[in-house]
Amino acid sequence: MDGHDHGMLGLMRATLRAPIPEHVRADFGFAALIMALFLVQVCTGIMLSLYYQPSPDAVSESVQFIMRDVSQGWLVRGLHHWAAAGLVAMCGLHLVRVFVSARYHHGRSWIWYIGALVLLLVIASTFTGEILGWDNSSYWRVRGLLEGLERLPLIGAGLADIVRGGPEVSATTLSRTYTAHAMFVPWMVWMLLMANLALIVRDMRRSNGGAA
Ligand code: HEM
Repeated sequence: MDGHDHGMLGLMRATLRAPIPEHVRADFGFAALIMALFLVQVCTGIMLSLYYQPSPDAVSESVQFIMRDVSQGWLVRGLHHWAAAGLVAMCGLHLVRVFVSARYHHGRSWIWYIGALVLLLVIASTFTGEILGWDNSSYWRVRGLLEGLERLPLIGAGLADIVRGGPEVSATTLSRTYTAHAMFVPWMVWMLLMANLALIVRDMRRSNGGAA
């Protein structure tokens, strides 16, 4: 990057300028799709949040309201649902491609670890999103989530307590799951995607002898 090429814009400019070697072109296609689907999730998620109400008494009516009364609400909800599946599939395929072409070592291990973490977080987003309907199946998903968290070494029990928000699964659990789903996890995904992009641009500049 040039002396004045800092921050997000600098990163975008460097990415667009960097010559892309033939053998990684498909990966850039995957990366662009992942970014696009993530932006779809953020935009449709914000639209859903305008009407969605994370309280056990109001949640079901608010989701029905989105589907029935909000103009194009069914479309926005459908897009949010299918883009989530697309995002998991694209992240998974992208990682498989990097794995089978053995591009996860030789100084690139951080890119690989961050990519794997993004896939885990996207799966976590999908899982927490499916809890937000707060019906029978959500109850069993919450129990699964809490049991899974409790099995994590050291931090597991504490994390499960934070998500549960009390001795039993309750309204607090729903509002905390919603906060994690709509704010915490997407921010982490965004920061990891940016970190991955920065590492990839740095790697390409190195293999181009600094000319990117
Ligand atoms: C990585 C990003 C995200 C993924 C993978 C994701 C995934 C999901 C999924 C699978 C659902 C359940 C949809 C259904 O089938 O009914 C959902 C629901 C929901 N999401 Fe997200 N989401 C993401 C980001 C966001 C963001 C950024 C927001 C808000 C700013 C948001 C707000 C909501 C709301 C309000 C619902 C509940 C409405 C409903 O049940 O349809 N999501 N999400």
